[in-house]
Amino acid sequence: MVDSLKKPGFEEIRPGIKVPARETLLTPRFYTTDFDEMARMDISVNEDELIAILEEFRVDYNRHHFVRDAEFEQSWDHIDGETRKLFVEFLERSCTAEFSGFLLYKELGRRLKDKSPLVAECFNLMSRDEARHAGFLNKALSDFNLSLDLGFLTKSRSYTFFKPKFIFYATYLSEKIGYWRYITIYRHLEAHPEDRVYPIFRFFENWCQDENRHGDFFDAIMKSQPQMLNDWKARLWSRFFLLSVFATMYLNDIQRKDFYACLGLDAREYDIHVIKKTNETAGRVFPLMLDVDNPEFYQRLDICIQNNEKLSAIANSNTPKFLQFFQKLPIYASHGWQLLRLYLMKPIDAVPAQGAAR
Ligand SMILES: [Fe+2]
Ligand SMILES: [Fe+2]
Repeated sequence: MVDSLKKPGFEEIRPGIKVPARETLLTPRFYTTDFDEMARMDISVNEDELIAILEEFRVDYNRHHFVRDAEFEQSWDHIDGETRKLFVEFLERSCTAEFSGFLLYKELGRRLKDKSPLVAECFNLMSRDEARHAGFLNKALSDFNLSLDLGFLTKSRSYTFFKPKFIFYATYLSEKIGYWRYITIYRHLEAHPEDRVYPIFRFFENWCQDENRHGDFFDAIMKSQPQMLNDWKARLWSRFFLLSVFATMYLNDIQRKDFYACLGLDAREYDIHVIKKTNETAGRVFPLMLDVDNPEFYQRLDICIQNNEKLSAIANSNTPKFLQFFQKLPIYASHGWQLLRLYLMKPIDAVPAQGAAR
């Protein structure tokens, strides 16, 4: 009884080490890129801003922040059953995402060291931050009698190759959306301390500033490569990345709305806020923003959610697998159609303000 309470159905590689969650389109990704192309980048147009960002990284504001205090030292067995499962899943997804940032930045720091020392040092210092974030989350998992074998994760995960330009779009957005996610949870719990059921959320205020600085670094890097931002391809790709990041988060979070409910948050309202803020922030560097205030935006995403529910109902039914495929086909088609229509929705032009406050 006690054992099942501690480990609600998690598979383990060895005692206490959780089998990583299965990779799907919606799980955090690991990236690799063309390191030589990145090393050849001329950043001189925006070098001053990058130097200023490097100075900020060097200050290391959060050097003493990630220290587990007395509040962690208690039993967390009262978080049990489904809630415990949701907590572990949240910690695992966050840890994997932070660790994926660590690996990519570390490798970039190493590979760019000789040819682009300024950018390399920025990557190294960002990898320092991400290692702290991932480590802190992994420690939190140990409060639930589990942890992730990050070495195993490094070797076992598949890596998605993106050209440097796409790495910048994707990491910029993931840092900024990470900032808005953390700060929104923090501010909500600051106003409703009764919902702060676990101490990690107290750390989110300073933590999210790391993510904000990381996002600013990618903002500055993209501005040093104006060709990445000012042609018709940049417009199409910005739309693609904004939509992918927003849709992935929305589908993931609504599926896990019970987790947000334990914190007193409505997952849908939370996501709508985070998407709105990230979209506005992105408008300071991308040539456009998505029209997320148009009701059609969430209507179509909600159809995708219903489709996901139908797909899992089919997968869990007793229908033979080959028949399931035919049942799923029209749902996949609807999914693709909704995403295409979302992609084709008229975007809003942004006027990037050089050097404006973010
Ligand atoms: Fe992070
Ligand atoms: Fe980050």
